Amino acid sequence: MAEVFIKPQGTKEEQYAALYQQICGVLSSETDTIANMANVAAMIQTTFNFWWTGFYRVLPTDDGEEQLVLGPFQGPLACTRIALGRGVCGTAWQRKQTIVVPDVDKFEGHIACSSESKSEIVVPIFKDDKVVAVLDIDSAQIATFDATDQLWLEKIAERIF
Ligand code: SME
Repeated sequence: MAEVFIKPQGTKEEQYAALYQQICGVLSSETDTIANMANVAAMIQTTFNFWWTGFYRVLPTDDGEEQLVLGPFQGPLACTRIALGRGVCGTAWQRKQTIVVPDVDKFEGHIACSSESKSEIVVPIFKDDKVVAVLDIDSAQIATFDATDQLWLEKIAERIF
């Protein structure tokens, strides 16, 4: 089915409300998680033009552990694997909570995939109370993300699985 995306306008709150509505529509017609992650990354990126928007999935490693592995994203090249507790993504996974980083240089252990990234938000995605992926967004400006971003991105994350 061909999808038509109407770029949301207005305040950030209004943009997120319109974005969320369109995301729900797109996700309701597709069951494949990778396809849905790809389209969600595209829709978030088209709306806000962030530096990087993408997903890391929790996947098993050869030694029986788990790692975050790069999934669908929009933006420049990114690191492919992140261990539990490492970086902002691995910390959000470990803590099972959203992390908002106003200045990545002040987050100890931040993994710099790009020197252009200045602030970041990472939202864990749950399935049956287990973190199965994270939504990671980087901004080229300091302190881009606030409680409004957290609220709406958590609502979006709930829709992925
Ligand atoms: N900055 C992240 C790594 C992933 S990239 O930003 C795409 C982190 O510290 O976990």
